[in-house]
Amino acid sequence: VRAAATTPDDLAPRRRPRAGVPDDEHDGAGSRGGFWNAPDTDPAVAASRSWAAEIVARDPASVHPRTAPLASADDVDAVVARALAAAPGWAAVPPGVRGDVLRSCADRLEDARADLVATMVHEAGKTVAESDPEVSEAVDLARWYAGSADRLHPDHPDAFPGVRFTPRGVTLVTPPWNFPVAIPAGGVLAALAAGSPVVAKPAHPAPRCFEVVVDAIHAALDAHGIARDVVQLVRVPESDLGRRLVTHPDIARVVLTGSIDTARLFARWRPALDVLAETSGKNAIVVTASADPDLAVADVVRSAFGHAGQKCSAASLLILVGTAGDPRSPIGRRLRRGLVSAVRSLAVGPPTDLGTVMGPLTEPADGKLLRALTRLDPGERWLVEPRRLDDAGRLWTPGLKDGVQPGSWFHLTECFGPVLGIMTAEQIDDAVEIQDDVAFGLTGGIHSLDDAEIDEWLATVHVGNAYVNRHITGAIVRRQPFGGWKASSVGPGAKAGGPHYVAQLGDWTDASPTA
Ligand code: SER
Repeated sequence: VRAAATTPDDLAPRRRPRAGVPDDEHDGAGSRGGFWNAPDTDPAVAASRSWAAEIVARDPASVHPRTAPLASADDVDAVVARALAAAPGWAAVPPGVRGDVLRSCADRLEDARADLVATMVHEAGKTVAESDPEVSEAVDLARWYAGSADRLHPDHPDAFPGVRFTPRGVTLVTPPWNFPVAIPAGGVLAALAAGSPVVAKPAHPAPRCFEVVVDAIHAALDAHGIARDVVQLVRVPESDLGRRLVTHPDIARVVLTGSIDTARLFARWRPALDVLAETSGKNAIVVTASADPDLAVADVVRSAFGHAGQKCSAASLLILVGTAGDPRSPIGRRLRRGLVSAVRSLAVGPPTDLGTVMGPLTEPADGKLLRALTRLDPGERWLVEPRRLDDAGRLWTPGLKDGVQPGSWFHLTECFGPVLGIMTAEQIDDAVEIQDDVAFGLTGGIHSLDDAEIDEWLATVHVGNAYVNRHITGAIVRRQPFGGWKASSVGPGAKAGGPHYVAQLGDWTDASPTA
């Protein structure tokens, strides 16, 4: 087991170089964070800076001193047995009361905002700017799924007509480490809304974040006099014990957010179709010659390098269409120059430094990501070459490569890190073909000021979340329910934060009496 480095301070380089700029060219400019930072003169920005300063100054050990010990086989069986025993009681709680419990969870999560952000910063290496909206998303999910619970009552004005809902039973929620608060919270709260008790399995590198979420949910359960066994957290080592939990006969449903490889493994282990998974992405933003180049550059860079590209929703490909693809045309030149300058301006460093825009990788780069950061394939060239800044291999400057060829390794492979590759296409339909060649269909975007181009792209692209003139990460609950098509999703595919997510977690029967 590789030890998770939980103190990003250890990773701090003595100075914080900007991407692509040799150390000896440092002038200190942009050291207040460069690309995304608002001016200090704004009082709201100043207030949030002082809040953020308190967060990063916390002693990591005091944020969440307790970490659940790794479970034994007996522990796993005991946790599942307790959840199973709690199932009938929780299923009998009327949906509207379950909704009230979730609304209390929303309040408790909001109360825990500072602890949650601090844990994300100190454990998962996320910046405050990336962590704080994640708490908001968790709170939004709690309130939204509370409404979904209300709606399961047959007398609710918006109840699904003619059918009756039955909770499925013990649900295993196994989230990823890259959104260590919002995705775990969403998974647990949706299952609770659906009347099922939860066994919560934190991702190995960021268990404390999930523990703080579960603490908030337990406080809400306590307030409603509901036994904590309804939500239990169990940390299992990456070994046969994980398989024992995933295949446990008393687990009725598995909700996974993780890599396609893990989803395939789980589906092999549990051939019954009770695994719901949101998996990988290899996402592209299409930019045409009609786009506002400054807006496009800002959104592309944010989509590609937020949380060091460690998002299933991140942009990994930029497809420049028509003259935008030609480096000799004014728009092609402007886009490339803008990108190079924006990527170089990204301040890389530990998340505890408030000037940092791009923090460390949660785990050292290896495998596909290391290849993407260090190798070029035929036709490719670096516009900004990545550099490793620490011995551990967690701190990298971002990479921007041009000339990615259709069908190449980088075109088709999810790398999950701070590398963006540029491709070109003659027309919108060629760009869509490039997107379609990828096995995944999670997010995608277009930057264009031409309605005909936008309409054509929207009508033909095969991604779950398609964004227009916007960054392609950070889906907003209810407004942009989140989920993929193609290999990005396993199961019925109702989107997280959307109207049907909770409903898909249980079983439906015809409500009319049988003869
Ligand atoms: N929901 C996240 C986003 O939209 C990804 O999990 O970026």
